[in-house]
Amino acid sequence: MPLSVLPPGPNLIATFGFVRNPFRFLDECAQRYGDWFTVRVPGVLPFVFTSAPDAVREVFLGDPDALHAGEANRPLGAFMGERSSLFLDAPEHLRQRRLLLPAFHGEQVASHADAMRTAADNAIASWPLGQQFPIHPQMRAITFETIIRTVFGFEDDSTGTELRASLKALFEIFSSRLGTLFSLPAMRIDAGAWSPWGRAVRLTRQVDAILFNEFARRRKEGVEGRADVLSMLLAARNENEQPLPDEVICDEMYTLMLAGHETTAASMAWVINRLITNPDVMERARAEVSSVLRDQQLDSSNVGKLKYVEAVINETMRLDPVIPNFGRTLTRPLKIAGRDLPAGVTIAPCIYLVHRRPELWPNPEQFNPDRFLEARQSPYSFFPFGGGARRCLGAAFATYQMKIVIAEILARVNLKPAPGYKASATRRGIAFAPSDGLPVIATNRS
Ligand code: HEM
Repeated sequence: MPLSVLPPGPNLIATFGFVRNPFRFLDECAQRYGDWFTVRVPGVLPFVFTSAPDAVREVFLGDPDALHAGEANRPLGAFMGERSSLFLDAPEHLRQRRLLLPAFHGEQVASHADAMRTAADNAIASWPLGQQFPIHPQMRAITFETIIRTVFGFEDDSTGTELRASLKALFEIFSSRLGTLFSLPAMRIDAGAWSPWGRAVRLTRQVDAILFNEFARRRKEGVEGRADVLSMLLAARNENEQPLPDEVICDEMYTLMLAGHETTAASMAWVINRLITNPDVMERARAEVSSVLRDQQLDSSNVGKLKYVEAVINETMRLDPVIPNFGRTLTRPLKIAGRDLPAGVTIAPCIYLVHRRPELWPNPEQFNPDRFLEARQSPYSFFPFGGGARRCLGAAFATYQMKIVIAEILARVNLKPAPGYKASATRRGIAFAPSDGLPVIATNRS
């Protein structure tokens, strides 16, 4: 089947809008082309975007041998090595994902509550009162520190400090505008330590060296009693009782940092943006936090009671999904929701557009967290974490951390928007975050 029969879509110049203002770009495409449109980027096979609910369902329930997520994710491989589960497809993907899953189960995630709260408290204590400051970098600092402690299991000792410095510098490059271009192989030019890609290559070597030494140390000393994800991976055994090779664990570590750090930080920034622009919602959420806490500390015994805070987070992820679409590359021709698609294209269910369909979400533009208290939402109409066998591995981790950080903020400071500011979406690494770092003013720290 020729690629020319694909649904119509924007030309190359209009497609730049996806980088400049992604949410507006998607709205305009939906208005002009409807539920299906094709986005073409030179040198890459076409992406067929869809916001048809049937198509989403069929993609989630479809044959993983025919719908390759690993292949669709491959452009991100430049950032994190291609041996992690993100880039694998069935059956290797399932085998490797199984080894990671226990580290992201509810109880295991809850064991990180103190680390998540401490990272939030330390950041909040540093915020200037009465002065405007960008809060999105603060969210990035919180998620970075949490991942270093709970996923990597590093403390404040000299190795931990060295790892933080190298990883931070590396992820600054990847998250920059220029870093986005590294998904195109032609842009990866190592012109020495001062060129951006050359610096990334050298920083990666430094991080690799720190990690491989740490793997050897932990294997020698044993990892019993440690709750961090890295230690669980070092202890994991496959069906033949074999450990994962160090190179694979190393790639998984980069993946978890890249997949978990900017996404959760950007989502929390959007939640703050929704709270400060909806004062009634903010007051109701704050009242819930005080009634749940009653002068107690936030910990694993009470996080689960923050139902309204969770609804606020979900409603924000509905309207401001930091990853607006995901992809599956077709390995053979398929009919999806009645439409014939050829092998080689990537079908891209559009989270952003499905989350705004009026027949699924009455009055879709209205920010109304009660939707999530009144009814359980279908996984085919609400899927900020993707779905099916590839659903985000860190969904419980991210939601738990967001509840803790947002509740700590509500309990400890008042926030208001900077005068004249209106958020639009801007790319930050693999996620879309509020523009200009989301400037806010904090008052009344308790
Ligand atoms: C609000 C925060 C987050 C959002 C919105 C998010 C969203 C997503 C989405 C849309 C996918 C693709 C799913 C698909 O293809 O169907 C994904 C995959 C993934 N995410 Fe997240 N994510 C978040 C946080 C995290 C965290 C905290 C971690 C780990 C620390 C993480 C680890 C992963 C991994 C490993 C995958 C690949 C899963 C696989 O292919 O088997 N994510 N995420």
